[in-house]
Amino acid sequence: MSENAPNAVTQVKPFKRIMLKMSGEVLMGSNEYGLDPETVNRVAEDIKEVVDAGTQVCVVVGAGNIFRGVAGAASGMDRTTADYMGMLGIVINALALQNALEHIGIQTRVQSGIRMDSICEPYIRRKAMRHMEKGRVVIFAAGTGNPYFTSDTAGALRASEMDCDAIFKGTKVDGVYTADPKKDKNATRYDKISFIDVLTKDLRVMDATAISLARENNIPIVVFDVQEKGNFAKVARSEGSYTIVSN
Ligand code: GTP
Repeated sequence: MSENAPNAVTQVKPFKRIMLKMSGEVLMGSNEYGLDPETVNRVAEDIKEVVDAGTQVCVVVGAGNIFRGVAGAASGMDRTTADYMGMLGIVINALALQNALEHIGIQTRVQSGIRMDSICEPYIRRKAMRHMEKGRVVIFAAGTGNPYFTSDTAGALRASEMDCDAIFKGTKVDGVYTADPKKDKNATRYDKISFIDVLTKDLRVMDATAISLARENNIPIVVFDVQEKGNFAKVARSEGSYTIVSN
């Protein structure tokens, strides 16, 4: 939508450190479930392109390709148990992404919000910062480590703790629309929209807790299509289409 023509405000700045937040579904490619190795490798290549351009990157993935806590609870499970299962799903995705990144020469560290020391490091903020300063991609696993919080909230929380300049929210569409573009032909894309408008119009960019955290900490959210090869780096260079959510 050209509610705002591209200008200095809607341009993505060259960022020093960004958080990539992706849903787990992205990693299943065209499958109905689980991990598609080709897609995981492609996402890793996309992250490498951004790292090679000199930007520090940390990542939070969801687990919708493996297990959804909310769906588990809806089917009668205890919400807390279902959420812990979802957090374990995130760890599986984090390890898959770590493996793919290291195969192409990108140093990584996985840090988990729930201690599982045989598998990965525990989340330690200062250590994560040092890893990134050394050019390593830090993948934050197991969400916030607490039930009742989504991986979107974990993304906004870790982005705040890591002093990220932006959250890149990788989705299946190229930004935030006035309505679901798959259902409504007249839906138009915003170039730029405020956090408040996202909340009051219930635009579901990320859940309300995540949006509030990003808003309070003044971290813009760049919504872009993460399924298109090379698009992460392209949007990080202010090219192509995307929506910036900011104060
Ligand atoms: P520097 O301090 O910059 O050298 O970072 P580093 O991560 O290389 O140092 P460290 O000695 O902490 O870690 C060496 C390796 O062990 C890395 O691959 C870490 O990911 C891994 N590692 C460190 N702590 C843990 C842990 O608690 N659990 C697991 N599974 N691996 C760990």
